[in-house]
Amino acid sequence: MSRFRVLISTSSFAAADRLPLARLEDEGAEVALNPHGRVLTEDEVATLVADCDGLIAGTEPLTERVLSGAPKLRVISRVGVGIERVDLTAAERRGIKVFITPDALTDAVAELTLGAMIALLRRLPQMNAAMHEGVWEKQMGRLLRGRTVGIVGLGRIGKALAKLLAPFGVRRVARDAEPDRPWAAGNDVQLMSLRELLPVAEVLSVHASGAECLIGPEELALLPEGAIVLNPARGGLVDESALYDGLVSGRLAGCYLDTFEREPYDGPLRGHPNALLTPHAGSYAREARVRMELQAVDNLLGVLRDGRA
Ligand code: 8YV
Repeated sequence: MSRFRVLISTSSFAAADRLPLARLEDEGAEVALNPHGRVLTEDEVATLVADCDGLIAGTEPLTERVLSGAPKLRVISRVGVGIERVDLTAAERRGIKVFITPDALTDAVAELTLGAMIALLRRLPQMNAAMHEGVWEKQMGRLLRGRTVGIVGLGRIGKALAKLLAPFGVRRVARDAEPDRPWAAGNDVQLMSLRELLPVAEVLSVHASGAECLIGPEELALLPEGAIVLNPARGGLVDESALYDGLVSGRLAGCYLDTFEREPYDGPLRGHPNALLTPHAGSYAREARVRMELQAVDNLLGVLRDGRA
């Protein structure tokens, strides 16, 4: 008989390496995987988790209703860092422990963001699309060197991006609700308010947590003409329709989104040549995924096997 039952709701678990799954099975866990290959809805996760002792979670909504329908659940172990879709109060009330994998994806997201920034400045998506259409056309881009990059959210990923940007000779300005002032001073990153930052940010990169809109139409209007905007953090932090309007009017030169208000995304930015889009794949670097999944398994076993309080 299995020792405990675990739902793995994240959609691509063990895709990079079987080791995390094997580690769970070696402990005698009975494992159910996400059968849909995408983020689960509230109803789907509620049904699948109902008789489980543990959940290795993706970004699906883990609401009061879901948790109250899973009386045996003792631990939610997120593969990732975002926690805004977990009802932490409901979890605490039920004695359900909640874990994240705080550092495992930092480099993956920061590197991807840097790549997207350079891709947009050099018009890679547009030239690539033209080449695939048989059009040989050199398009004029811009250097990253010498630009001002505004980082909104100077946590683990914002700091990692700021460090990656250092050798490019860019001015790095940042806004954070609770800024790490000594770190910013030691790394030559200038802290400012959002109001001060927006008018100078030729490149705006959002790395905040939560789902509240930080960059709406008014904020986008304050950016310099021809700015580019990146959101690999959470859907909704940047207003998608305002972003679309900015691209259509030409005020914004480009955007990169990895996260969307609704995922899978099927909105109008798909039709805009200056929008570079990826399917919430910021952490999808093999090394990062394996590290995240192993950490998530260990966090879960800490409760279910070792009885960590
Ligand atoms: C997803 C993320 O969790 O860490 C986060 O909060 O958004 C991502 O890493 C991950 O892709 C789900 O498996």
